[in-house]
Amino acid sequence: SVISDKGLIITNYHCGHGIIQGHSSMENDILTDGFWAKSNEEELVNENLTAIFLIEMTDVTDKILSEITEDMTEKERTRIISEKSKKLEEEATKDNHYKAEVRAFFQGNQYFLIINEVFEDIRMVGVPPYSIGRFGGDTDNWMWPRHTGDFALFRIYTDPDGTPAVYSEENIPYKAKKHLPVSLSGTEKGDFTMVFGYPGTTMQYLPSFAVKQILEETYPNRTLIRGKKLDILNNAMDSDPEIRLQYSAKTARVSNAWKKWLGEIRGLNRLDAVNVKKQYEKEFTQWVNENSEIQQKYGNILKEYKDTYDKISPYSMAFDYFREAGLGSEAIMFASQLRGLENISKDNMEIIPKLKKDAKNHADNFYKDYHPPTDKKIFAEMIKLYYENIPVEFHPEYFKNLEKYFRKSEKPFKHFAEYCFNKSILTDEDKFYDFLENLNHRSIRIIEKDPFFILRQDFASIYREKIYLELNKYHTKSDSLHRVYMKAQLEFEEGKIFYPDANFTLRVSYGKIDTYYPADAVKYKYYTSLSGIMEKENPDIYDYKVNDRLKELYYEKDFGIYSASDGTMRVCFIASNHTTGGNSGSPVLNANGELIGVNFDRNWEGTMSDIMYDLDMCRNISIDIRYVLFIIDKFAGASHLIEEMEIRM
Ligand code: ARG
Ligand code: GLU
Repeated sequence: SVISDKGLIITNYHCGHGIIQGHSSMENDILTDGFWAKSNEEELVNENLTAIFLIEMTDVTDKILSEITEDMTEKERTRIISEKSKKLEEEATKDNHYKAEVRAFFQGNQYFLIINEVFEDIRMVGVPPYSIGRFGGDTDNWMWPRHTGDFALFRIYTDPDGTPAVYSEENIPYKAKKHLPVSLSGTEKGDFTMVFGYPGTTMQYLPSFAVKQILEETYPNRTLIRGKKLDILNNAMDSDPEIRLQYSAKTARVSNAWKKWLGEIRGLNRLDAVNVKKQYEKEFTQWVNENSEIQQKYGNILKEYKDTYDKISPYSMAFDYFREAGLGSEAIMFASQLRGLENISKDNMEIIPKLKKDAKNHADNFYKDYHPPTDKKIFAEMIKLYYENIPVEFHPEYFKNLEKYFRKSEKPFKHFAEYCFNKSILTDEDKFYDFLENLNHRSIRIIEKDPFFILRQDFASIYREKIYLELNKYHTKSDSLHRVYMKAQLEFEEGKIFYPDANFTLRVSYGKIDTYYPADAVKYKYYTSLSGIMEKENPDIYDYKVNDRLKELYYEKDFGIYSASDGTMRVCFIASNHTTGGNSGSPVLNANGELIGVNFDRNWEGTMSDIMYDLDMCRNISIDIRYVLFIIDKFAGASHLIEEMEIRM
């Protein structure tokens, strides 16, 4: 959201997390303390950060599908579509600096040509301290009531004539065609809200078989693995502040989807989603059977779906275990980053300096945040899960070494992990730098014996030879089923207005500010306030530490023009907009098109909306723009930023 005529943009703190961390050091810990540029000169430059504006989107379905026939193979179809897309994209960007892409909607039943302008000089302007921007941390993540000040400010720069350019001192703040006015008029239950952003993936039109598999296999498998991992990580972080520093971002990544999947399982069960889908399929089948022409087209689809999902099941499970557990320890991931070292031979010694340099970069990054004892515990647990739950045909060769511990030890996985960690050069910083120092054509002998290099290779070949090939076959099949079933559903419910699944393109959703009932006898208000932060305060719980300056402001009750009419300082609010991952940072507008908040999360009871939306239970969570302004102005004293905005009372 652009919020001034000087290219100021607002997004979420958690979207900027990596960037903020990148600008932080022990001496200048922006991540913990926050950052406020007092002038344009003080803003921080970022490489590889872009801002994208949609210029135009056009329905090009007819052009893309003109030569497609029903009897084509999926491969042929894909080839023609990508050739046609490429041509349209090239034409659209011939005489301009725009970027274009053709994107599929409704699982390939509709295509749009999308033209974007991409800005490449984006500077960091202001971020609150961690204890505000991430208040509640992973404890409150995906939950309402919420009190996170999840915002960050950046600025777009262009070259002196207003076109996108990479960083240069000559660049000037961008004057966008439009910017959003910011409203202080507040929120009331029932108010219209509109969110627009770039959500990633929803799966609203899946058949019951797919939902059943997600619910009974995919999510339980993944949450089991991540849950074990999180137990170890959280214990380690609680035991030592240094480990917390090293592992907080990594843990947040593991935890985010874990918690969402758990919420989804509950939500889908509560909605009885599989049976709801089954009922729909029953009606669909009746419709199909009424007409022989339709029967010809769609008579087999549900049966084919069922077969496909039955066949996918073991491979999909192996894939989840491969990704979450097989590659689930940092040592193996580090080994993956070092690909290339094994190619050194007597005949290509000239590649050594570059490999050495790259490996050193990876190593510096890796060891900075690496705590071997924690990773060792995780490794033991991950191998155990994989070993016990995945059929032998998917086991890496190297598991043979594991088997000898079954005879010798009561804790075979623990001892196997110990063995691997002692033997490897990757799990000991000194050993590894030593190895790099002496890198030569004989190094391969060390690599070939290293447990993690071996395991990485073994897992990779299991994946390539036994998982990927099969999965890909069925995915290609299910992709074409998705397309046909989508088409069938559009015909079955002709006249109904469908909205396509999210696909990382611009999506507008509307709803209203609303309360909800999360459980029997419980009602949630639609807003939270600063006093709620004080209620949650607990100096012993990391996620609930309250910033001292914020506390002062609370006791002084100096909320200025930012307080609600009842005198409270509002922090977050909820509404019934259908949003999903990728909607973080999306502007939330009122009926006048003014900015009233920034979207950053959903409620736990409503995370199943990716698959099945429920108006009674699904809420998107936004930070109230008045809290943002209060933090910028009263907390940070950065009133010059407020002055460049167009504030409406
Ligand atoms: N759940 C929000 C979004 O998916 C926020 C994630 C970041 N925050 C966190 N505490 N991990 O993806
Ligand atoms: N936090 C999510 C994101 O980063 C948005 C929340 C959701 O999934 O609705 O996109």
